Amino acid sequence: MTVYGIVIPSACHCLQRDLFFENCAIKTIKETIMAVKDIKLDTPQDIAELLDLEDFGQIYRLADQVRNEHMGDTVHMRAIIEFSNVCKRQCIYCGLNKSNREISRFRMSRREIEETARQAVMAGYRTVVLQSGEDDYFTAERLGKIVGDVKALDGFQDTGPPIVTLSCGELTREEYAYLKEKGADRYLLKHETADDALYSRLHPCGELKSRINCLRDLKEVGYETGSGFMIGLPGQSLETVGKDLLLLKELSCEMAGIGPFISNPKTPLAGEQNGSTELARRAVAIARLLLPKANLPVTTSLAILAPEENPFDFGANVIMKKVTPDEYKEAYEIYPAEYSKTNIVRDKKELEEKIRFYNRVPK
Ligand code: 5AD
Repeated sequence: MTVYGIVIPSACHCLQRDLFFENCAIKTIKETIMAVKDIKLDTPQDIAELLDLEDFGQIYRLADQVRNEHMGDTVHMRAIIEFSNVCKRQCIYCGLNKSNREISRFRMSRREIEETARQAVMAGYRTVVLQSGEDDYFTAERLGKIVGDVKALDGFQDTGPPIVTLSCGELTREEYAYLKEKGADRYLLKHETADDALYSRLHPCGELKSRINCLRDLKEVGYETGSGFMIGLPGQSLETVGKDLLLLKELSCEMAGIGPFISNPKTPLAGEQNGSTELARRAVAIARLLLPKANLPVTTSLAILAPEENPFDFGANVIMKKVTPDEYKEAYEIYPAEYSKTNIVRDKKELEEKIRFYNRVPK
């Protein structure tokens, strides 16, 4: 392994590696940034070794400095509207999967979605994320109208029309292109795991290959494209996480959401262990080194499992806030979580305070 330009024998023990890092005095940000070039992140094995370090402190600091250098201190706040929990897929980790009979299904109406988006934009959010299960009711035509409604919410605080991010699963290239034409700016479609066999076990209803094709289509039709994956999926190894991170790089993702798996008792993965929040943070830090200019959110699942920890000191620069109306919030249960009642204006203020508390600038 080569770190900071110095080859550390790969058989060296964690303790030696820790001593090595302690001795690596970093003097200036510039030096640190230069050092990134020398960290070897070429293969899943390189990354697995890094993830396995006993003391990850230096890498966290490096990731934070790279974030600062390339993205500044701004933390972007995104309002997320979860507008339908109807889903035709059977992803075995997800509470929305169609075999789950224990949640009540809902669809927000076009007007409800528009009204919620309006409130978010009036509260000062500049990006609205529209997320749903894979729900055939929301055809590209219907989605296009909704995108148009949200893009027309112009004129508040002179910031222009909001950025619209869609997260509605796998569609055809033509549908993605159509929605782009209707005004959608960004698309989130996590690859979930880059390991082919694990992907097939988790998704009785899909293939990694099609997922990756969708991501390539999204890029080609001009979206700012986001992928991402879960940490701690049963059967995942550190090398899998290495592969996940390299796939983000290979796809040149503009965004990447990396969060711990949370076991949902209403799914076939009930009773499995939750993913490690430490490993999730480490993976985000490495994503920052691989993709210095990417928008990397603090995922909701990470915030849920580690509510007390600083969410902004390991490379992330984005945070999402649910603005989904209360009557639907509980039913959008991807994994178990407790949410307080939605008050879009108050929630945004609280989020801004939290961001400032960590010496970052909310936007
Ligand atoms: N734990 C953590 N994240 C999950 N997701 C789905 N199910 C779970 C779970 N049990 C994530 C997936 C999906 C996003 C909407 O939520 O990564 O892309």
